[in-house]
Amino acid sequence: MSKITTARLLAMKQDQQKIAMITAYDASFAKLFEQAGAHAILIGDSLGMVLQGENSTLKVTVEDMAYHTRCVANGCEQALIVADLPFMSYSNPEQACANAATLMRAGAHMVKLEGGDWLADTVTQLTRQGIPVCGHLGLTPQSVHVFGGFKLQGRAVEQAEQIKRDAQALEAAGAQLLVLECVPSSLAREISQMLTIPVIGIGAGPDTDGQVLVMQDALGLTTGYVPKFTKNFLAEHGEVQAAIAAYVTDVAEGRFPGSEHSFN
Ligand code: KIV
Ligand code: NA
Repeated sequence: MSKITTARLLAMKQDQQKIAMITAYDASFAKLFEQAGAHAILIGDSLGMVLQGENSTLKVTVEDMAYHTRCVANGCEQALIVADLPFMSYSNPEQACANAATLMRAGAHMVKLEGGDWLADTVTQLTRQGIPVCGHLGLTPQSVHVFGGFKLQGRAVEQAEQIKRDAQALEAAGAQLLVLECVPSSLAREISQMLTIPVIGIGAGPDTDGQVLVMQDALGLTTGYVPKFTKNFLAEHGEVQAAIAAYVTDVAEGRFPGSEHSFN
């Protein structure tokens, strides 16, 4: 596999090839996932929950993100490396640029931030200064206390319309990728068709341009509440690399996510 760039992801969408993304937080897993064919590795602020044991992502700092981004970058040669800007690290364009620069210097190729049209200026500034941006809409976990829990977004017509407007605003502002989390499959399909940039889904049904999973979910390491939209790929495969290779192939061939993993 040659180096994955934002241009390559766009070409994959145009060729109707599905993009497989997975989170990683260290060099060992990142290297294995890349060798298994993952196109993009996300250093998610989900690390607050899966590594630090918190019940939300709110305590994660830019320093935490930079540390794990450096670890992942040291394990990767080909995959596109996307790092989350954590809670309250992008309240205005200046703050966003300074913190995004820290993540880029740690080895990220792109930063991800949560929110809609209010971020348009920030996305434009980041992009102008050489930092590719991935948007994140739907269930945006940094807003868990505004939502009143981790729940499906965009079921009501008004809310769905707002998510569509937000998606268009992010693309118009220069975003080059969009993550859609926990929304009805029909809404995710509509947004994926409407946008030129690739849309990566999690709990967003089978019709986005790609999928992303938290590695602990994909490997059956999550105990307690396991979200409906995840699948333990290790259960059917003896080794981590084979499990993630199966995830990549199942995404490519449209076998994952199935309707049992989607909100219809
Ligand atoms: O933090 C994370 O892992 C994420 C993905 C679930 C999209 O943002
Ligand atoms: Na995240």
